[in-house]
Amino acid sequence: MKRIRMERYARLILIGRGMTLAGLLVVGAVAVAADMLEPVLKDRGKHFQTEGKVVPVEKDGIHDPVNASVGYLQPPHVAMTDFPRDNAGLTNWVETVDKGLIAPRADLLGHAQMKLLDTDIIFADTGAMPKVRFPHKAHTEWLDCSNCHPAIFTQQKGTSNIAMTDVLQGQYCGVCHGKVAFAPTLNCMRCHSVP
Ligand code: HEC
Ligand code: HEC
Ligand code: HEC
Repeated sequence: MKRIRMERYARLILIGRGMTLAGLLVVGAVAVAADMLEPVLKDRGKHFQTEGKVVPVEKDGIHDPVNASVGYLQPPHVAMTDFPRDNAGLTNWVETVDKGLIAPRADLLGHAQMKLLDTDIIFADTGAMPKVRFPHKAHTEWLDCSNCHPAIFTQQKGTSNIAMTDVLQGQYCGVCHGKVAFAPTLNCMRCHSVP
């Protein structure tokens, strides 16, 4: 099921290769519109229920219903009510951290410090789409270097030969985006942000 959807997007992207920017933006918009119509896809990337008919946490399919602590959890629609959203209506976690609404810990007890790196990588092999900006800062506020180096990316600019279909199929950026970070099928422009 998931695979078929992936291929549909992959096809959209491949069609996109030979198109003008305007055409591509339409392709993107269609992909996003298709997402909005499909309830399953619509929920992808929304790891927590923040609106709609609220299901108790022990019934949300994410939390362990028999864990004794489940009753102490603050419901996400309460805890996350003021969190900023992105254009796709999903929690914008980067802004949430930047505004100080949450403070991710580097280790369990909060003793260690995150190792921050503030450099951007620009991926320019994007055809008529805007270029992709990979910000180390927004990532190292949450993630240790070892999450990406060396298994997913080498520490050398321009060595990964990334195609959009790889990302959609869960490789490179797609190891996280579409699973624990915003989905590559939504909000193309959060990655393709450099004209
Ligand atoms: C999580 C980040 C991310 C998101 C979101 C994203 N892309 Fe990409 N995209 C990339 C990266 C990385 C590349 C590779 C660029 C390179 O190698 O220089 C790429 C490349 C592309 C290319 C160039 C051709 C190809 O197949 O590689 C197209 C076209 C493209 N993306 C379209 C889209 C569309 C349409 C969307 C939204 C439905 C989208 N992208 C969303 C990261 C992203
Ligand atoms: C979320 C994934 C991710 C994390 C976490 C990450 N990086 Fe990277 N890093 C990348 C990507 C993507 C590239 C570009 C690879 C390419 O161009 O093929 C890169 C490239 C680099 C480069 C080469 C850049 C250049 O300008 O030549 C260095 C050095 C580097 N990273 C160091 C680090 C260090 C140090 C940390 C931890 C503080 C870190 N990275 C954390 C994804 C990550
Ligand atoms: C190891 C996991 C991981 C990988 C690999 C990864 N990301 Fe991310 N990315 C995250 C997380 C976590 C966030 C913050 C949560 C969110 O925004 O959903 C994030 C956020 C972002 C943002 C938002 C920055 C902002 O200022 O709003 C961009 C853009 C982005 N990633 C691009 C990329 C691109 C491009 C790649 C591949 C070259 C990539 N990421 C690879 C985990 C990852």
